[in-house]
Amino acid sequence: MSREQALPLDQGTVDFFALKGTHVGCTVPQTNNINGLKVRRVMQLIRDFSKKPLDQIRILDLACGEGVYSIEAALRGARVMGVDARTERMNEGAKVAQRLGLNNIRFEQCDVRNVAARSHGKVDVVLFLGILYHLDQRDVFPVLENIFEMCEQFLIIDTHIALQNRVQIEHEGRIYEGEHYREHDTSDSEAVRKSRLMASVDNPTSFWFTRESLYRLLHDVGFTSVCECYVPLEPFKPDNRVTLIAAKGEPVQLSSYPWVNGKTEAQIESLVADRLQASGRKAGARRAGALGRALGKLGLK
Ligand SMILES: C[S@@+](CC[C@H](N)C(=O)[O-])C[C@H]1O[C@@H](n2cnc3c(N)ncnc32)[C@H](O)[C@@H]1O
Repeated sequence: MSREQALPLDQGTVDFFALKGTHVGCTVPQTNNINGLKVRRVMQLIRDFSKKPLDQIRILDLACGEGVYSIEAALRGARVMGVDARTERMNEGAKVAQRLGLNNIRFEQCDVRNVAARSHGKVDVVLFLGILYHLDQRDVFPVLENIFEMCEQFLIIDTHIALQNRVQIEHEGRIYEGEHYREHDTSDSEAVRKSRLMASVDNPTSFWFTRESLYRLLHDVGFTSVCECYVPLEPFKPDNRVTLIAAKGEPVQLSSYPWVNGKTEAQIESLVADRLQASGRKAGARRAGALGRALGKLGLK
């Protein structure tokens, strides 16, 4: 039996969360009551991976929407800040938080592209849910770099990924693969773009990374381990959608294989490639030797 108990909320609040996303006609599993599975996954990750209990941590919920994750965490005592560029849904969430008497939660209208340690301080956990895939390829790098600086324990990302590597983009000499996704028509006015409550604020296209490029990007930004979450289960989660947890830790140093220490990933990859090539050559030579001996025995050599 779980020691954690659900807190009873008034019917109006439960109904509010049950309607999540339905006003824009969204049918993906992350809307309406089914969104409860995503909230369960994120809350379980925080509970399982945080080095401190929930009532001792600070959480930054970027692009919080109506703020259900912020509110759920605040109900457990975390100090939370929810940030979104749009206020339509966030204001409704703020009213719910007020009705619940939560004084450990704050909501702020702000663009995630303007959130940084110098303006918002440091936190234990950053939530980046349903937002990475709304960012333009120019913005995604500085935003993740700022998040890394702000984050003291880990970052949770829930995002769409590209299943095809149609486009290559470059940042600081590194290549990342993925595809562009259209958010708005270039002819759409600012007002029309803002009115699409679940979309990017203004950028007409966003960039979706392939899974491999996204892992590499999180490594390049500085996270020491990145894991994909499969449990708690989310039945019917689309194949092109993942939940990742990226930890900010201390890089390990190995005693058993000291050659690994102090090398860049490029150096490691090139050493492994050389080793594989050399053992391929040896295996080739061994195969040629064996063939020669067999032919010799048959008197064919
Ligand atoms: C798909 S919803 C995700 C909401 C919530 N995080 C969740 O997972 O349920 C995307 C949200 O990102 C917000 N958003 C889009 N671009 C943003 C930006 N540049 N800065 C802040 N919020 C942004 C939108 O207003 C919207 O609330």
